[in-house]
Amino acid sequence: MNTQSEVFLHDGVKATASNAAGAPAPHESAALHVSGEAIYVDDLPELQGTLHGALGLSGKAHARVLSMDLDPVRRAPGVVAVLTASDIPGENNCGPIVHDDPVLADGLVQYVGQPVFAVVAESHDAARRAARLACIQYEDLPAQLTPQPAGAEQATVVAPMRMRRGDPEAAIAAAPQRLAGTFSCNGQEQFYLEGQVSYAIPKEGQSLHLHCSTQHPSEMQAVVAHVLGWHAHQLRVECRRMGGGFGGKESQSALFACVAALCATRLNRPVKLRLDRDDDFMITGKRHGFHYDYDVGFDEQGRILGLKLDMSLRAGFSADLSEAVATRAVCHVDNAYYIPHIDVLAVCSKTNTQSNTAFRGFGGPQGALITEVLLDTIARRVGRDPLEVRRVNFYDGQDRNTTPYGQPVLDNVLVPLTDQLVAASAYEARRKAVQEFNRNSQVLKKGLALTPVKFGISFNVPAFNQAGALVHVYRDGSVLVNHGGTEMGQGLNTKVAQVTATELGVNLASVRVTATDTSKVANTSATAASTGSDLNGKAAQDAARRIRCRLAEFAAAHWGGSAADVVFADNAVAVNGQQLPFAQVVDTAYWAQVQLWSEGFYATPGIQWDKHTMTGRPFYYFAYGAAVSEVVIDTLTGEWKLLRADLLHDVGQSINPAIDIGQIEGGFIQGMGWLTTEELCWNNEGKLTTHAPSTYKIPAVGDCPADFRVALFHNQNIKDTVHRSKAVGEPPLLLSFSVFNAIRDAVVSAQGNGNEPQLNAPATPEAILDALSGLPGRSTA
Ligand code: MTE
Ligand code: HPA
Ligand code: MOS
Repeated sequence: MNTQSEVFLHDGVKATASNAAGAPAPHESAALHVSGEAIYVDDLPELQGTLHGALGLSGKAHARVLSMDLDPVRRAPGVVAVLTASDIPGENNCGPIVHDDPVLADGLVQYVGQPVFAVVAESHDAARRAARLACIQYEDLPAQLTPQPAGAEQATVVAPMRMRRGDPEAAIAAAPQRLAGTFSCNGQEQFYLEGQVSYAIPKEGQSLHLHCSTQHPSEMQAVVAHVLGWHAHQLRVECRRMGGGFGGKESQSALFACVAALCATRLNRPVKLRLDRDDDFMITGKRHGFHYDYDVGFDEQGRILGLKLDMSLRAGFSADLSEAVATRAVCHVDNAYYIPHIDVLAVCSKTNTQSNTAFRGFGGPQGALITEVLLDTIARRVGRDPLEVRRVNFYDGQDRNTTPYGQPVLDNVLVPLTDQLVAASAYEARRKAVQEFNRNSQVLKKGLALTPVKFGISFNVPAFNQAGALVHVYRDGSVLVNHGGTEMGQGLNTKVAQVTATELGVNLASVRVTATDTSKVANTSATAASTGSDLNGKAAQDAARRIRCRLAEFAAAHWGGSAADVVFADNAVAVNGQQLPFAQVVDTAYWAQVQLWSEGFYATPGIQWDKHTMTGRPFYYFAYGAAVSEVVIDTLTGEWKLLRADLLHDVGQSINPAIDIGQIEGGFIQGMGWLTTEELCWNNEGKLTTHAPSTYKIPAVGDCPADFRVALFHNQNIKDTVHRSKAVGEPPLLLSFSVFNAIRDAVVSAQGNGNEPQLNAPATPEAILDALSGLPGRSTA
């Protein structure tokens, strides 16, 4: 490494030219993460005069507020102010689409944990203690604590939606075999390690600088502007990084941004609002739990002929993103399979609980899970290996190749991918070994499952598929990139830096990515739907390319030769037979009045969706993968262990294989937590009783399989994505279905009577024991 690049070393990245796109460069903040130097919102040095907020929460699931005595709160030590809905100058709403999310409840509370007032005090502790002192009188109203079945008369947060193709009733009636029943899966708390937090700093002339842990700075800017009755240009929202978002900070960072901004503007002092874990659990929405009623017809090979599926989602008290979540769920029921006749109904059931929201996969996992559970059930019914049954149902690239919403599957790699995984995992030999083990083992029983995934990439709202970037090249040849995406640990900034470095032919160490900031790139989309690097990578590439083209024109004019022949590589520029340092070319260009910075823009082409007919082309392409999991269960205790997992996943041509493998491992383990250990329980009063790590069990290191084999499938995106890569953030979460199906497989072996297990998700030890005792599965939605 030359001394030039040492100068630019930052964040501990040992970058060289080989860290360009395609190289397994470390996360740009890896060293800062492990040394504790990485700055999150709560780590920002507090300005003098900073106050701290806390929220007073509803103790009732559904009630009218008769009176609020907040004097005890005001009198508490350190309290500076108490604010309620009546203090909001603009609109009392922070909902992303439908305006049904009050910032502070105004006369009506709709779930236990709903924020009713805000306290501002000299310290975080003082604010939290004071918030408990309110005396609120309620008049109880009837509360709906569990979602209703899809067919029932009920309140919904958005209109029910139905996707239909062919004549499923006739196809099912005529099918040689038929299965009808119910299933359910639980919700899931995002459990980002950094909780929701906002720090609002008043600036001159009625303006505000808001540091916010959010996946969607532009939405925070817009929502806070509505709440304050301000223009967007009065607000600057900044996010350097999040300690995880997982969907939970797409829309639901808004309430905290609004309260911090409201308090700061009322008091004209900086105000920080940082939730503690329990309050975060109690206030914010989670993954939607689903209840399913299915009726499926199939032939003796296990080929699905017709499917009728009613899905009821626990939406919570307001719409939030539920409509989009339900749509993605409906669009993923097919998963990897051609279902000729199909009818899927999705109902977003209104419940007096937290308003459920985005969580990695965004309904996709819930849509595809039921089909993967059904395929194993069908396989057992027809007495074939579940892999064979999956193969006869795969989209085939010929006449069985159009999704129920009318989009053809053009990039399917599941046959070669599955073949490769079957060979690498020794699936067939291990299937026999598991049977052999189970014949000889009384108490312990093993299970094995292979599940594939096909996941659609894009927002189905065309406008959301756009991004902007701003690239500055300084006179010393160092590069600063800003883009509209947010960093939440997924490595977006690293990938964008690699793409920019590649485009300019400079070392990765020369490129720094700065905090997402609404004053730099405007009108950005949420970093969501796994599109972060697809969109922002392309935008940064566009900006860098504009600068490179200007430099090439200039270099040819200055040193001779043709602009088309100028090459940018290895921190140098090859022009007219000379090899010049990049910094020298840049500095020379500056003195010749060449613009050394540029904006860039990208919009995904061809996305189209008709929500009335539920048809269109909602996805630019699909990402694929498959997994084999082997588990062992203890039939006396219901405990289980994942022994080995083999994952093979398609990320197209990887921009960063190290980061992609990390995303695949993380998504898989997070999905496994959802389907096995993470359980949300609400009591009869509607209070969430699992609101801390003491009662809510996310997977830990010890839950990872001792034998964990993760590989990238050799592929290129057929679409013109950035370096032909594919999105990776969410799709691997669905690989965890293999763990759940393996547990069901083990339970079937233990039962030994051929009956299907009554085992819903999560497959906790208690649920596994119930299933082994033949008890009906508990509905967990
Ligand atoms: N990885 C980490 N470490 N932390 C996160 O919060 N969020 C996931 C996924 N991977 C998340 C993550 C979700 S929900 C999405 S949509 C994508 O990252 C978003 O980032 P991307 O579009 O840049 O992949
Ligand atoms: N994923 C994540 N967030 C979203 C989506 C999606 O598909 N649509 C709207 N917001
Ligand atoms: Mo991810 S659920 O789209 O933030």
